[in-house]
Amino acid sequence: MPTFKAPRGTRDLLPPDRTGWSRLERIAADLAARYGYREIETPLFEQTEVFERGVGAVTDVVEKELFRIAPRTEESESWALRPEPTAGIVRAYVQHGMQTWPQPVRLTLRGPMFRYDRPQAGRYRQFWQFDVEAIGDPGPAVDAELIELGLRFYREAGLDGVDVLLNSIGDATCRPAYVDELSAYYRAHVDRLPALERDRLERNPLRLLDSKEPVMAELNALAPKITERLCEPCAGHFAAVRAHLDAVGVGFRLEPTLVRGLDYYTRTAFEFYRRGAEGQQQALGGGGRYDGLVELLGGRPTPAIGFGIGLDRVILALEASGAPQVPEPRPVAVVVGADPAATIERLQVATELRAAGIAARAELGQRKLGKQLEAAAREHAHFAVIVGDELADGQVQLKDLEAGTQRLVVLADLPRELARAHASHRHGVGED
Ligand code: HAM
Repeated sequence: MPTFKAPRGTRDLLPPDRTGWSRLERIAADLAARYGYREIETPLFEQTEVFERGVGAVTDVVEKELFRIAPRTEESESWALRPEPTAGIVRAYVQHGMQTWPQPVRLTLRGPMFRYDRPQAGRYRQFWQFDVEAIGDPGPAVDAELIELGLRFYREAGLDGVDVLLNSIGDATCRPAYVDELSAYYRAHVDRLPALERDRLERNPLRLLDSKEPVMAELNALAPKITERLCEPCAGHFAAVRAHLDAVGVGFRLEPTLVRGLDYYTRTAFEFYRRGAEGQQQALGGGGRYDGLVELLGGRPTPAIGFGIGLDRVILALEASGAPQVPEPRPVAVVVGADPAATIERLQVATELRAAGIAARAELGQRKLGKQLEAAAREHAHFAVIVGDELADGQVQLKDLEAGTQRLVVLADLPRELARAHASHRHGVGED
C-alpha cells in the first residue's frame, strides 16, 4: 500500500495546535468588528486574469508562485488558487456595485492563501491571512487607522516588539521618472549585479530595492530614494500619514527601500516585523495603498488601502517568544454508568445536557465504570455524572472530579446544578 502525506509546503493542524489558530481568528474577528470592518468571503480560486492584472504579471507571486488549475475541456476560463485576497475582494467590489454603498467600504476576511513558494519555516504553500481592506477613501487618516489596527492585532495576540516599516512609493505621476532614474543607477553598476537581479532590472527595476542578496545591500544603500522624488501631492499625503500615526501614538521606522512584492501599490506601503528579524524576509504582515486597482479590474477610479497579516508567522513568533499553548476546551461533564451496557440511558442524559447548552460527553463504549472514570479524568472533565439504579427515581450521582466529592442530584435539576457549580468553580480559580 502506498503511504500518503500532506503535500510539501502544507501542514495538518491537529487539535492541540488548532486552538492557537482559533484564538487568533477570534481576536482578528473581534478587532475588525470593533473598527467597523465587515466580513466578506470570496472564492478560493478566481479567473487567472484577476491575479495577472491585479497583482501584476511581472511579479514572483504570479510568474513563479501561482497555483494554476489545469483547465477542464468543457470550460473556457482559466483559474488559479488565490495567492492573496485583495484582487478577489476588489473584483467582488466591482462586480457587486459596491461603489454605490457608503464609502469607504470596510471589508475583512480570514482564510487560506496559496503560493507555490520554496517551503521553509514560515514559508508555506498554503498559509492563512487576516486581511482588512478600506475601499473608497483616499486617506491619509484611514492609512494611519489601518496601521494602528494591524499593530493592535499583534498586541492583543500577545506578541510584543512588532515594528512598523513605512514608505511611500509614489503614484503614476512621480514613480515612472523615479523608476527610470533607478534603472540608470543600476545599469551603471550592472557588472556587480547577480544574474537574477540583472533579469529583474529589465523587467521590474523597483524589485531590486528589496533584494536580500548580500552584494545588493551596499548598492541599495546608495540608490536614489523614492521619498526624495515624490511629487507634491504624494509628499503631502506621506507627511500627513506620518502626522496621523504620531497623533495615535504609533511609532514607525522609515524604510525608503521598502517596495512590496505586488504591483498594485501606490503611495503608502508598510510591513510589520518582529524587532530584530527584519533581515530574514519574514514579515509578519504587510500592506499599503492601491489607488489604481479598482480601475484596473474594471471599476471607476477608487482609492483604497489594506493589509494582510500572516497568521502562520504570528503563531511561530508566539511559540518562539515562549507563549503558553492554548488549551483545548474540556468537557464540563462526562456521563458514565455502573452498567456498561446501559448506553441508551447515558446517551439520553448527555443529549439533554447538551440541549441545555452544557459541554458534555457520554461514555458510549461498554467498558467498566473504573475505566470510564479514568477516561473522564484524563480529559480533565470537571464532573462525572454517574447513571445507576437511582435513575428509576429520576436521580443521578454527580461526582466533582476535582474536589473528589459526590452527591445525588434530581435529573431535572442537573443542567442548572452543573452550570452553577462549573461557573462558581471557574470564577473561584480565576479562569475568567
Ligand atoms: P503580502 O506581503 O504578499 O501581502 O502577504 C502578507 C503576509 O502574508 C506576509 O507579510 C506574510 O506574513 C504572509 N505570507 C506571505 N506569503 C507567505 C507564505 N508563503 N507562507 C506564510 N506566510 C506568508 C498581501 O498578500 C497583500 N494582499 C496585503 C494587502 C492587503 N495589501 C493591501 N491589502
